[in-house]
Amino acid sequence: MENLLHIAYDAEDFRSRAHQLVDQLADYISECRDGKPMPVLPPAEPEELYSHWLQDFNHEGFDFQQFCQTIINQSIHIHHPRYVGHQVAPPAPMAALTELMSALLNNGMAIYEMGPAATAIERVVVEWLAKHVGLGDRSGGVLTSGGSAGNLTGLLAARQTICSHNVWDEGALEGQQLAVMVSEEAHYSVARAARIMGWGAKGVIKIPVNQELQADDDQLENCLAEARAQGLQVIAIVGNACSTSTGSYDDLHSMSEFARKHNIWFHVDGAHGGAAVFSGKYQHLVKGMELADSVVIDFHKMMLTPALTTAVLFKDVAHSFETFAQKAEYLLSNGTQKPWFDGAARTLECTKKMMSIKIYALIKQYGKELFSEFVTQLYDLGQAFADMIRNEPGFELAIEPQSNIVCFRYWPNTLNMPINYFTAQIRSQLLRDERFYVVQTYVRGDTYLRTTLMNPFTSTNDLSELLHLIKQIADEIIADK
Ligand SMILES: Cc1ncc(COP(=O)(O)O)c(C=O)c1O
Repeated sequence: MENLLHIAYDAEDFRSRAHQLVDQLADYISECRDGKPMPVLPPAEPEELYSHWLQDFNHEGFDFQQFCQTIINQSIHIHHPRYVGHQVAPPAPMAALTELMSALLNNGMAIYEMGPAATAIERVVVEWLAKHVGLGDRSGGVLTSGGSAGNLTGLLAARQTICSHNVWDEGALEGQQLAVMVSEEAHYSVARAARIMGWGAKGVIKIPVNQELQADDDQLENCLAEARAQGLQVIAIVGNACSTSTGSYDDLHSMSEFARKHNIWFHVDGAHGGAAVFSGKYQHLVKGMELADSVVIDFHKMMLTPALTTAVLFKDVAHSFETFAQKAEYLLSNGTQKPWFDGAARTLECTKKMMSIKIYALIKQYGKELFSEFVTQLYDLGQAFADMIRNEPGFELAIEPQSNIVCFRYWPNTLNMPINYFTAQIRSQLLRDERFYVVQTYVRGDTYLRTTLMNPFTSTNDLSELLHLIKQIADEIIADK
């Protein structure tokens, strides 16, 4: 019998399976693009799928083609125009192809030698993005696996720069309690970063929000004064561009002025909406982002790439090196040379994927106009959907959307049960119906349906049918009571 290792690495076997898989995926993309009716989130309880796979696992034999098809069928269909749920990009197929290359070449990326091309390309694309954000001549950054790791990286840099002693080497000083200011609407990764750094719950000063759910500028001085009165040393303020739940943009310009006045770090969480910088029509939303000390932008949200790919940008790239100034003799230095733009010197990660190549391929193939079109079209669709909701009796918006995140609810005057319960019921029934994928959120303590319009092929027709379906489901819920 032939040696298993020879079989596993057989090039011709790889070629034919890859062709077959690409054919399957191409058919899938085309069906999705055409909006072929399919359960956007295939129905199955977790235990049911677990049993399915356990049984399959214990069963003799394996058909790779069948395996791939079953995975496709059982997955949530991000490329379907009626997927209007969470903030995950439907990746451009070319970006997915480069992922295959990254998976096979498997360059570890920790240092230049472990990923020469992808490390050099990482520097090119990160500097390109920093330039578009307007961070200036000394800017640069690094790619990390996700916005959560990105926010932590930015705040670690803040701590290392703003604290008067070397926290990285010496740890916290006796009695020192550090903190960050951020809107109460911020993504939880900011609070998590503070806790990871040992600041606990009191290390997050929550800035109250205004009617539009943006950090209330009038409260900034108060928040800082109160924090200081409690003995906290505030080292950074974080701006949302935009918030996760409702897509609200903080006033980044006034936050930057506040940060400068008080000599604290200004970090922008632009994981979702930082990409608005590419849209001539919507870039006003991120005015002030160019004044930040650090910025996070997820390519896998509004920039068409597969997860995870995040840029952490610094106004002064030197901060990127100081943040993790740690010795690992075998890896980070040979004693005579400084590490180049090596990733491991500047992120939490040692090994990481060759993330840069998918971004590079998209930029070179389509130009930055691809991102401009994507953001503009989807933010426009958010406005169009908001108009439809406003004009449809019984429907109401949670707030006027600033982005492609639109939160709303249906409150007919025949309602005979509490509105929050009713909204949650509508969402459950929508899931059961399978034609759309919509999520829910809480706005000022109330339950709302939340849509994130991530797919450029979602049409106003799709959205009109969604509203129609919601009304139909609502009537049934009311009638069943
Ligand atoms: C505003 C914001 N920041 C950070 C994150 C976390 O990013 P990731 O999921 O890439 O870790 C998210 C995710 O939804 C987000 O919306």
